Amino acid sequence: MATPAAELFPPPDQTGNQVASALPSSSLAPRAPIDMRRILALATRASSMVEQIRGRLLAPESRKISPRYSVAQLAVLCGVDKSHVNYRLTKGDLPAGQLTPNGGKREFTLSEARLWARAYRQDKMKPAGQRAICIAVANFKGGVAKTTSSMILAQGLSLRGHRVLAIDIDPQGSLTTLHGILPETEVTEEMTISPLCHGTSQDITPAIRSTYWDGIDLVAAAPFLFSAEFALPARQMSDTGARFWDVLSEGLEPVRDLYDVIVIDTPPSLSYVTINGLWAADGIVVPVPPSGLDFASSAQFWSLLADLGGNLDQQETDGARKVFDFLHILLSRVDQADAASPAVRQWIQATYGEFVLPVEIPKTSVTSNKAAEFATVYDVQKYDGSAKTYKRAVDAYDRFVDLVEESVVEAWRGRGAPA
Ligand SMILES: Nc1ncnc2c1ncn2[C@@H]1O[C@H](COP(=O)(O)OP(=O)(O)O)[C@@H](O)[C@H]1O
Ligand SMILES: [Mg+2]
Repeated sequence: MATPAAELFPPPDQTGNQVASALPSSSLAPRAPIDMRRILALATRASSMVEQIRGRLLAPESRKISPRYSVAQLAVLCGVDKSHVNYRLTKGDLPAGQLTPNGGKREFTLSEARLWARAYRQDKMKPAGQRAICIAVANFKGGVAKTTSSMILAQGLSLRGHRVLAIDIDPQGSLTTLHGILPETEVTEEMTISPLCHGTSQDITPAIRSTYWDGIDLVAAAPFLFSAEFALPARQMSDTGARFWDVLSEGLEPVRDLYDVIVIDTPPSLSYVTINGLWAADGIVVPVPPSGLDFASSAQFWSLLADLGGNLDQQETDGARKVFDFLHILLSRVDQADAASPAVRQWIQATYGEFVLPVEIPKTSVTSNKAAEFATVYDVQKYDGSAKTYKRAVDAYDRFVDLVEESVVEAWRGRGAPA
């Protein structure tokens, strides 16, 4: 069982940190100027701490493990009742799971649960011959829950039976970290979109890795991806025919048949890489917490996107102009105790109307506690805190995933029968 995060933050003197002397231990110590040598010491110290925490959280397997599912959970997933699951088990055509050693309770692995989901949710699966629907989670502001929402979408949609490709294009690599992979030490250039951006590859396939979560493959990110910000415009300068905004979209072409849904987590800025994420997408999800500042910055998101999109469209022929199948505003991190939120929520509703998803993700300790363990609510095998708080969080995320899945299914329908 993973150790709770709270136990993993020992006071500095217990960490055995060798670089601690580079920093003053008390405010009374003489203050040396903070030169780059000391910043580097800080960097080393921070990344070694992250590595230690991860090592202990994931012990003894040193990689994340996905949860197992009860008959009751499987029944909900398949939209049937428990007795039906028990009846279907007698037919022997779907995985039977395993009985736990002591109580003899039946449990299913994630891959078994996904097979059941595919069997019972046929009407929501990708029709034969259709291509993956690509969703970018975006907002030029940080901390609005982009990465959390991306991971929730990848996990929730794969649990519902879909084959998901998760793509991290934020050099901070938070989505990569949520998959139990450390950007600083475990991600190489070939595992990222970097070769696409530098023009050394036109196909994303070599960057794809399987993950601890059956049904999610990952294209990782790491800090060196910052260099893509310079590489993309430089290519445009040397080759006027290059389309710097379409590099990711074109790299995805060979795999759009292989997946059902592609989820892209984007950086918190209007960057060349972000544009590629948006231009590769069929649908956008924009998480917006109901705070005045977040609302104001979301307004900038639209004007920047419209300006830029307008410019890019002028360079395209009629049929090639960018259109999205869907656009969803997600009220994220909604703090019930914040007196200002109802007012801001009304502004959001009045401004974005039908684009606002009919669900609110509450600000909850379940999400923040799990994030401290490099996990989400969907990684939980057994929640240690209040069952009511946990259920409230899971119900909201489930509804969010269901709503996005509806848009995905609609997008497939909208495309009609494939040629
Ligand atoms: N519903 C929520 N309740 C509490 N904390 C949340 C919630 N959603 C996200 N967070 C936390 O807020 C921080 C920012 O979220 P993140 O998904 O990394 O945002 P972004 O990718 O937009 O920067 C993270 O620490 C995350 O765990
Ligand atoms: Mg993020």
